[in-house]
Parts: sequence; C-alpha cells; structure tokens
Amino acid sequence: MRDNAVISPAPGVTQPLVKMVNIHKSYGGVTALNGVDFVVGNNEIVGLIGDNGAGKSTLIKVLTGVEKQGEGKIYWKGKEIEKHTVENSRNMGIETVFQDRALAEKQNIWRNLFMGREMTYGRTGFIKVEESKKEAINLLKKMIGFTQSGLTPNLGVMGLSGGEKQGIAIARALYFDAELIILDEPTNNLSISETNKVLNFVKWAKEQGKSCIFITHSIYHVYSVAERFVVLDRGNTVGEFLKKDISLDGLVEKLEYVAKHGVLA
Ligand SMILES: Nc1ncnc2c1ncn2[C@@H]1O[C@H](COP(=O)(O)OP(=O)(O)OP(=O)(O)O)[C@@H](O)[C@H]1O
Ligand SMILES: [Mg+2]
Repeated sequence: MRDNAVISPAPGVTQPLVKMVNIHKSYGGVTALNGVDFVVGNNEIVGLIGDNGAGKSTLIKVLTGVEKQGEGKIYWKGKEIEKHTVENSRNMGIETVFQDRALAEKQNIWRNLFMGREMTYGRTGFIKVEESKKEAINLLKKMIGFTQSGLTPNLGVMGLSGGEKQGIAIARALYFDAELIILDEPTNNLSISETNKVLNFVKWAKEQGKSCIFITHSIYHVYSVAERFVVLDRGNTVGEFLKKDISLDGLVEKLEYVAKHGVLA
C-alpha cells in the first residue's frame, strides 16, 4: 500500500538516472525486498528512510551489484542493466560511502584517495607518489575545503574525525566522476558539527550536478538535504513524499505511524 506514490523524480529533475522496478530479494526464508520500485533522478538527492530491517541496505546492495535480486529490473539512464556486478556499477559511476568503512584506517590520506585507482607510470605500474600527493592537496583544499593547517596528504586517516573521513570518501567519489553517490547511514555516531559537515558535502555534491541516495534513521539529518523521501517498511515501499509537500513534523508523524501499523494513514 502506498501513499503519495510518485515513482518519477521530483519536479524539475529530468530523466531518471536509476530506475529499479519490482525488486524482490530473499535470504533463505527472509524476504528483505518484496517488490520495491525506486527511482533517482539526475541531480536529485533522495532520502531513503525506514526502520531497522526495512530493506534499505539490501536495496543498495542490489543496486550496486553486491547482491543479485530474485526478481525485478534495474535501469541506468534508461537502459536495462543485464549482468550487474560491483565492478560495472562502479564503472557506470555509482559510489557507496559507508560510515564505518569509508576509508582504510591504516593508510594515509593520499593513499585512501587513490586506493584501487592509483596514478601509475605506464606499464611499470609504479605509483606516481609525488603527483598523487599534489593532487591530494588540491582535492583537500578545493573540493573538501579542508583548511586545517596540519592536514597533509601523508597524515594517517585514523586520527581524522568522522566527518573529515566522510568528506574524503565523498571527495574521492566525486573526483572519480561518480554520478550517483550513496551514503548508507553516514551520520551514525557523529557529533552535530561533524554531521553538519557531511550534510554540507551532500549539498555540495548536488551543486556539482551529482545525485545522492541518503540512507539514515535520522529524519532530521536527511530532511535538510533531500528533495524527496522514500519510506521503506519490511521490504515494501510504503510512502514517497516530495519535500515541498511535507513538513519535517509531518514526515516524522508518518514514520511513527508506519512503524506502528506497517502502512501509512
Ligand atoms: N545477508 C543476509 N542474510 C540474511 N538475512 C539478511 C541479510 N541481509 C539482510 N537480511 C535481512 O533482510 C532484512 C532487511 O535488511 P537490511 O539490512 O536491508 O535492512 P536496513 O533497512 O538496511 O536496516 P538497518 O536500518 O538496520 O540498517 C532484515 O530482515 C535482515 O535481517
Ligand atoms: Mg542498513
């Protein structure tokens, strides 16, 4: 059952970047997704919300090729994706940033920025260390707006704050031309100021013409950045709202109702 079902992107947002239709996914006897439809438009920020176990992460795993759906189709820019893998999802321009696993803790900033896509000298495969570091400085200053004087590309990421780590992960995604950035619970365990940094990165990604899926339990965080909200509950899309049509309080109320009744009022 749906309320305000708008399967198309928000007004003003052009053609869908991603369209997932009737996605089913089960783990043994557990139905994680039960016919979910989900769309993200070009340059659209979508908040994917819902309680624990609603199926949010599973939907993302299907979208990013980590898991194969039992049924349903996925379209990227209008074209059906036939054989989906993590690699082709990345090649298409989809990047996922997880709060806990955003970066390799033991590596320094520049290695994290270029991990898996190092700049190398032709066939030798040797990494262009100096160039990488220079580019890293550029990225830190221009893209992420890090002005902290002690911040150098050689710095280990372990000592960075949660928000800074998220910033680096998002910058990496943008640098490598991600068109769709997925943030799965990016503000978990972050302080208010760190959370604000992450929200600003999302706004900045929007300004760069990118699309975002922002998954969170905190409706307060996502409300300030998303243009449209999709509510999942126990594997079903139970509601979809444009921000312009619903207040923060209204959305909180809807979510409370869904948690209690499994459908919208
Ligand atoms: N690998 C798995 N094996 C078995 N069951 C799974 C697996 N992954 C997810 N599930 C089940 O599928 C359902 C949806 O899980 P999912 O992780 O997608 O929820 P979620 O909305 O991301 O929840 P949370 O907000 O807690 O992260 C849950 O019932 C979960 O227990
Ligand atoms: Mg999850």
